[in-house]
Amino acid sequence: MNKKTVKDIDVKGKRVLLRCDFNVPQDEDGNITDNRRIVAALDTIKYLIYNDAKIILCSHLGRPKGEFKKQFSLSPVAKELEKLLGKEVKLSEDVVGECSKKLVQNMKDGDIVLLENVRFEKGEEKNDPEFAKQLASLADIYVNDAFGTTHRAHASTAGVAKFLPAVAGFLVEKEINFMSNALKNPERPFIAILGGAKVSDKIGVIDALLEKVDTLIIGGGMAYTFLKAQGYNIGNSMCEADKLDLAIKLMEKAKEKNVKLLLPVDTVIGKEFKRDTESKVVKSTEIPNDWEGFDIGPKSIELFGEEIKKAKTVIWNGPVGLFEFDKFAVGTNSIAKILSEVDATTIIGGGDSAAAIEKAGLTDKMSHVSTGGGASLQLLEGKELPGIECLENK
Ligand code: 3PG
Repeated sequence: MNKKTVKDIDVKGKRVLLRCDFNVPQDEDGNITDNRRIVAALDTIKYLIYNDAKIILCSHLGRPKGEFKKQFSLSPVAKELEKLLGKEVKLSEDVVGECSKKLVQNMKDGDIVLLENVRFEKGEEKNDPEFAKQLASLADIYVNDAFGTTHRAHASTAGVAKFLPAVAGFLVEKEINFMSNALKNPERPFIAILGGAKVSDKIGVIDALLEKVDTLIIGGGMAYTFLKAQGYNIGNSMCEADKLDLAIKLMEKAKEKNVKLLLPVDTVIGKEFKRDTESKVVKSTEIPNDWEGFDIGPKSIELFGEEIKKAKTVIWNGPVGLFEFDKFAVGTNSIAKILSEVDATTIIGGGDSAAAIEKAGLTDKMSHVSTGGGASLQLLEGKELPGIECLENK
């Protein structure tokens, strides 16, 4: 990465505004159900503690749309951080108000203050320079470690960098290095597995990856649009009718570029979108009317698996089936298992695929599991990330 990191500046005694992505899932009672994003921020936080900085943490949680809403408070995050660090984390009642100013004024080296959810302020998502300036006025240095939010040009992820020396944290550095090394200089064969519901979400990514990979495997809801585009019957399966031409163009591009494009050869179909619906396996080209495709079948698992086993670099983004329902999670879990055993660099995009890997207990078996869904897609697409661009070059 060509950006400065926290190691390139002197933080001793300085007030450091550290933007993290603490946007973690919670149950109805507000309990954090997956703390990986908090754990991923610990390296930078510990480095700053060890180097006697005053650490002012900030993050968004959910989409409260510019006003205080209790269910989006960072209070559970403050508690989780205290538990993980074994150290007090003072939660401010506001973002840039009197409470934050006072808490920051009283900080000693190594202290930690967590500002309330930055999205309680209207200026955050608008990237309002006035709000960015207020945020910056709390600190001497800005560190962005919120990889999962680097694709958003918001006040706390980009705007604030205009007013302070701005560098990256260790998580951002790690995420960028993993992805860009794989994309720039992959050990081959290089395979991408793309899943998820919609082709429209991944057009840019498919297009960009066709320039780089040796094999592209497409599963999940978007595979049906590709099957339909070839004239096959897909029953009631998910299909984007306005993307059929595009699917043809992408398949043609794969041919031109000599990229092997694999689609499921068999499919687990169900009668209804229900956990316990009647189900069976059919050829992907012969999905009967009134049935819907929900997962890849055993022959597809074998076909994809054989290809994956030959790979030296694999990037996976998006589940290959409706993995939220156990009955249709076999495909996604099998891909996860194959990836955990393969002798290759394995990079998992954030969001649903990371959740699937975590659910299967295989996170530790991957080379890298990203903490960013949208951000890693944007990176795969070769687009700039505003939260990275705003940082100082080395
Ligand atoms: C994410 O979960 O992808 C990031 O935290 C960004 O959240 P957002 O999509 O609400 O901007």
